[in-house]
Amino acid sequence: MQIQPLWLRITHWLNAFAVLIMVTSGWQIYNASPIFRSIVFPSAITLGGWLGGALQWHFAAMWLLVANFIVYVAMNVFTGRLRRRMFPLSIRSIVTDAFAALRGKLGHDDLTHYNAVQKFAYLAVIVDIVIVILSGLAVWKSVQFPLLRTLMGGYDEARVVHFFGMSFLVAFFVVHVVMVALVPRSLVMMIRGR
Ligand code: HEM
Repeated sequence: MQIQPLWLRITHWLNAFAVLIMVTSGWQIYNASPIFRSIVFPSAITLGGWLGGALQWHFAAMWLLVANFIVYVAMNVFTGRLRRRMFPLSIRSIVTDAFAALRGKLGHDDLTHYNAVQKFAYLAVIVDIVIVILSGLAVWKSVQFPLLRTLMGGYDEARVVHFFGMSFLVAFFVVHVVMVALVPRSLVMMIRGR
């Protein structure tokens, strides 16, 4: 039986690829004008070589990120998959599953269902990507989107929102990859579909 449909696998891996390019080129762009003096990213983990090069990568990959993300969310909503796989979800179930996971008592026998912590993490990263896209738009076209800029608290604040959105995305990425490494069968499913 197919568990991860083809459209999900394609959009998931395109998203991972786009995020990787956006984050590493974003770090290079950040380095040209750091928000926090103590935070500078080593050039070995940045993309683009210099500010101009990194902007090219960032602006190229942003189209892929946004278009692919719209397809991912739209397909999830219209096929009913979002409702089936991410809900129902309650704070109580998240707490229960989180404690069970910490005690090593959360089973992985049924990979057709996400546990409550997974559901919460996936929904959180989806919301986070929306925030990253909107704050990025406010930084990129701050004159054309004054309302968006104001909602972010201003241009400088939009940069801060963008930075923390990136930080959450990277934190998710690290935990996500560790979790996948703990349950390698899930990776096979995300590649082959079953
Ligand atoms: C920042 C980049 C990434 C993001 C934002 C992301 C996000 C997600 C989301 C939202 C889901 C749930 C998909 C759904 O059911 O609709 C998911 C599932 C999954 N992701 Fe990622 N992902 C990223 C990178 C990766 C990488 C690098 C790997 C491989 C090491 C990976 C492996 C998986 C696997 C195996 C699943 C299925 C989990 C399961 O069935 O239990 N992801 N990812």
